[in-house]
Amino acid sequence: MSRSQEVNEQKLEELQGKVLGDVAGSLGLLMAYLGDRLDLYSALAELGEATSEQLSENTGLDERYVREWLSANAAAGYVEYSAERRAFSMTPEQAVLFSAEGHPACMQGFFQAVVSNYLDEPKVHEVFRSGEGLPWSEHNTCLFCSTERFFRPMYAANLVESWIPALDGVRKKLERGAKVADVGCGHGSSTVLLAEAFPNSTFHGFDFHAPSIEHARDRARNAGVAGNTIFEVVGASDYPGGGYDLVAIFDALHDMGDPVGACAHIRRTLKDDGTFMLVEPAAGDSLEENLHPLGQIYYSFSTMICTPASRAQPVGLALGAQAGEKRLTEVLREGGFTRVRRATETPTNMVLEARP
Ligand SMILES: C[S@@+](CC[C@H](N)C(=O)[O-])C[C@H]1O[C@@H](n2cnc3c(N)ncnc32)[C@H](O)[C@@H]1O
Repeated sequence: MSRSQEVNEQKLEELQGKVLGDVAGSLGLLMAYLGDRLDLYSALAELGEATSEQLSENTGLDERYVREWLSANAAAGYVEYSAERRAFSMTPEQAVLFSAEGHPACMQGFFQAVVSNYLDEPKVHEVFRSGEGLPWSEHNTCLFCSTERFFRPMYAANLVESWIPALDGVRKKLERGAKVADVGCGHGSSTVLLAEAFPNSTFHGFDFHAPSIEHARDRARNAGVAGNTIFEVVGASDYPGGGYDLVAIFDALHDMGDPVGACAHIRRTLKDDGTFMLVEPAAGDSLEENLHPLGQIYYSFSTMICTPASRAQPVGLALGAQAGEKRLTEVLREGGFTRVRRATETPTNMVLEARP
């Protein structure tokens, strides 16, 4: 180690403190995931307050394990502990975040996504060495469920209420009856929400991952929108039909191998007065603008999922999940769109409107 690389003890301590917090956090979300799978949070929220014995009895789970799990949660600040009564409880905020399935603030889908990344680490390890890709289909199924679980509440809160109205003239077309494609639709959360809100329109969900399309069909049947949704297993550059009024891609363009080819196909299949709605992760245009916790989260998911998924496909452009508006606009223009603007945004996503 050269003189200039000497360790500054104070900086080392600060870094240790920060990383110790990260270690605690990584274990905290593992505890949260375990609690979700074992229905411990919902049981505790239901009981109001419980000792480990009462929670064990209520859930039919082993008391000693339940006590250790509760202790870890109390230390993390995920549940409250009363030393006087030896009892645990949850504040309304803790109950929402850990157990209110479908609520936009519930983070269990997020935790599940992180756990799925840990499960797939050996596969990603391999592609770092080989330089090859890792197809979406080769991830464990936990990833597909967590994607749906994590994204759906966000779409439910924003898509119909604010994203569609932010697009020029689109809401009216959907109300009257329009032809829409949702490309890379996954489990079809966005497709089904739109089909529920706009019964006069027809929604085509396309994804090349067959098990996801099966799920999407189930979701549509369960939501009572099988009549105005059609799901098909097909790639973004090959989906059938034309004359679409609206084509949308939700958090999937950067996963594609050939995003320019996909945009060009969208341009070809869109009416001349049609709209392409592109939803992508929020990001600045340079790495230095993305050096914060949200950037860390996106770059990490992108290392584990998005970049290898793109690399696994022809062209393998590997845009990454933090491509930023400038780079995305270039891709849209190369694909044949001339007018691109940021229609709206949330803290985690940007919504771009592209017109021919
Ligand atoms: C992160 S998921 C998003 C799924 C969905 N849009 C959502 O928001 O829940 C990315 C999706 O893109 C799909 N995908 C990736 N590349 C594709 C391609 N070239 N053609 C079609 N689908 C693709 C994957 O199968 C996956 O379902």
